[in-house]
Amino acid sequence: MKRRVAILISGRGSNMAALIEAAKAADFPAEIAVVVSNRSDAGGLAIASQSGVPTAIVESRPFGKDRAAFEAALQALLDQHKVELICLAGFMRLFTAEFVQHWYGRMLNIHPSLLPAFPGLEPQAQALRAGVKISGATVHFVIPQTDAGPIVMQGAVAVQDDDTPETLAARILTVEHRIYPDALRLLAGGQIRLDGDICKTIGSAGSGDALISPAVN
Ligand code: GAR
Repeated sequence: MKRRVAILISGRGSNMAALIEAAKAADFPAEIAVVVSNRSDAGGLAIASQSGVPTAIVESRPFGKDRAAFEAALQALLDQHKVELICLAGFMRLFTAEFVQHWYGRMLNIHPSLLPAFPGLEPQAQALRAGVKISGATVHFVIPQTDAGPIVMQGAVAVQDDDTPETLAARILTVEHRIYPDALRLLAGGQIRLDGDICKTIGSAGSGDALISPAVN
């Protein structure tokens, strides 16, 4: 049985689109049951509809600071669609600790840095300011702390001297689109386990390739 997944978005939804595409494969262990946006103007909603995935809007703004009330409405929708796993994909709304605890081990997020470096806003600009030579993206389980939690998968890219936040973001985004579907495949396929705060992968290891940056000729 495929695990039923909700993708939560707030914007353009390119990671959502990558997850929807991957889930079309017959052997993918998850199906996208619903895409939920907390903003009615999220560009990703149209992409999901065109792909034949059910969409829903739970506007967060009317709830103001009442996060629990927003989450009650969201949870009702997730129950209605019999959702088992959640993928946050550019979902720009913080959850209460209670909601996060309820979904612990079943809710993933993607962030465009090699966590724990550069959590929060504008991580690509943070990476450039720090002068790191390698950055990337991280898929992790969600915990109450923002952009933190057991790391499921990471992908790295070289940072170029002439990068702007935009060019680095674009390079990282191509990696995001590879690792998010792969991480969901691992979770939905029962191939990962949590050992305390550490996520371990059953029967798999890193690629073995080293990424060295800058390259010396
Ligand atoms: C992605 O780069 C994602 O990693 C980031 O927002 C973007 C959403 O793009 N998420 C965060 O920064 C979370 N802290 P998308 O809507 O095209 O997937």
